[in-house]
Amino acid sequence: MAAFFPEELVNEVIQANDIVDIVSGYVRLKRSGSSFMGCCPFHREKTPSFHVSADKQLYHCFGCGAGGSVIQFVMNAEGLDFPDALRFLAERSGIRLPENEQDKGDERYKRKQKMYEMNKDAARFFRERLLSSDGQAAQEYLKKRQLDGKTIAAFGLGFAPKGWDGVLKHLLSKGYDRSLIVESGLCTMNDKGHVYDRFRERVMFPIFDARGNITGFTGRILFGDGAKYMNSPESIVFDKGKNLYGLNLAKKSSRGYYILVEGNMDVISLHQAGITAAVAACGTAFTRDQAKLISKSTVYLCFDGDGAGQKALDRAAEIFREFDTKLKVIELRDVKDPDDFIKKYGAEEFEKAITKAKTLMEYKMDMLLRGADLNDTSQKLEMLQGASKLLSTISNAVEREVYITRLSAKTGISTDAINSETKKASRKSERKEVSSELRRAVGEQVGEIRKKNKRRTVAEAGFLSMITEGAKIYSQFEGRFEGGNFSEDIHREIFNHIVTYYNENPNVSCQEYLMGAMTGQEKELSNVLMSALNVSDKARAAEDFAQVIESEIWNEKLQKAQSEGDLKLISELLKSKKK
Ligand code: UTP
Ligand code: MN
Repeated sequence: MAAFFPEELVNEVIQANDIVDIVSGYVRLKRSGSSFMGCCPFHREKTPSFHVSADKQLYHCFGCGAGGSVIQFVMNAEGLDFPDALRFLAERSGIRLPENEQDKGDERYKRKQKMYEMNKDAARFFRERLLSSDGQAAQEYLKKRQLDGKTIAAFGLGFAPKGWDGVLKHLLSKGYDRSLIVESGLCTMNDKGHVYDRFRERVMFPIFDARGNITGFTGRILFGDGAKYMNSPESIVFDKGKNLYGLNLAKKSSRGYYILVEGNMDVISLHQAGITAAVAACGTAFTRDQAKLISKSTVYLCFDGDGAGQKALDRAAEIFREFDTKLKVIELRDVKDPDDFIKKYGAEEFEKAITKAKTLMEYKMDMLLRGADLNDTSQKLEMLQGASKLLSTISNAVEREVYITRLSAKTGISTDAINSETKKASRKSERKEVSSELRRAVGEQVGEIRKKNKRRTVAEAGFLSMITEGAKIYSQFEGRFEGGNFSEDIHREIFNHIVTYYNENPNVSCQEYLMGAMTGQEKELSNVLMSALNVSDKARAAEDFAQVIESEIWNEKLQKAQSEGDLKLISELLKSKKK
């Protein structure tokens, strides 16, 4: 089946199609910790037992056992075989499959190319209008915003003139057909079939993808009222949730990090000031797809100081957490946004602000501090509780210590007191998370679990799922487990794969390898890998699962010894338990 397609291609398709996105098209998902859940589309149920994990890129239903990667999901949901599911996903994400060249995929590809070309022609048209006498007011506006000619050219800024058919006529004269023009969103069609320009009297910002294609436009209003910024609607080439404004230029910046800001003008203003690492989400709530584009580098968040900006920051931080992205926060002092900062304090000060950027933890702690009057005892206590909760989420002891010392210096509260509050907070949350996880996994989530031996099966799956997260967790158990400890063939097989893999690749997680190594068994595999989600302390959960397995093995031995009347073994077993 899969042999038709090279493994790299299959992986490329999987990586280009975020499972949470795809599944969301079929199932209403609700976030639950770092994963999502909803009602299974493959069997009837009222209470959700269908789980999708964003970091594992797998789905699994605890009710009916369906599971796998995004490809198995599409196979099940659309009733396709493997090659067709792969084609479906490849097409959706603009990946060309080799055998696809002649057919429909090719047509779509051509239409996309045509749309890029047309957008480029439209951008040229807007640029000419800006430089012509029509564009006088727009030019003055850009001057007032202190943009120089070089910047205007680098970002391809333009002007959509007054009137209803400026760009329409231009594009028609260039030979583009009306349907493509409407499809691109440059023009709109009303109920009567009349087609007219969408953007009128606006400063135009072309939106480029990372390859430099123009995928859409943002237009800023010049006069009168109406939405301040307006975007192209989605099209076959434009998905604003998958794009970051300025990324094409920021990618070329040699800074090795990105600065995520809110607005188009912030990006442009920073770039003009030489700070070419800036990108923006532009009017959309920040998405996982956008995060993915920059998540491998350090990201400096620099959002507006208002309430909306703070909310946006929290959201972005939460999303980046899934990718383990290193985050920093740049503070704007008394101004509204980065653009205003540059105007008021200049580029040099912004560079300083970058070097003084806080870690997310420092930033959050300082927000707590800023909001509390430390002379007021109850506010002080409340602040300490909030801070302890934050501190308890830091798993690295040294790092925690650093923040505790810092907090103590800022508040005069002794490190001992902060320490003990933090321990309390962390005990509380651990108890909640690990034990409820175990209860769910080992306990009674599925009625069947109570059946004989289910407890061991579930613990084995949980254990395997934890050790696939990284060799570091696995190494704690080296020697303590071997294939024979597992009661199911599939578990034994997975375990042996893991051990072989870690022996050669001690620093990476082995999930992707497993999916490749066990082709055809995706369902069984995801069944195991998805068996314990949202565990924050994975090493500890692994230990918990391991103990369940060992105690079940012990129980079985004892039962066997009892039924055989082997008194010596019984007493040995009882003795070993006491230790
Ligand atoms: P802001 O309202 O903070 O504007 O919106 P700004 O970036 O400071 O813009 P200027 O300086 O007044 O020109 C931030 C971003 O939110 C999106 C735009 O992408 C904008 O850059 N936005 C804003 C919209 O999409 N629509 C709107 O009506 C307003
Ligand atoms: Mn602004």
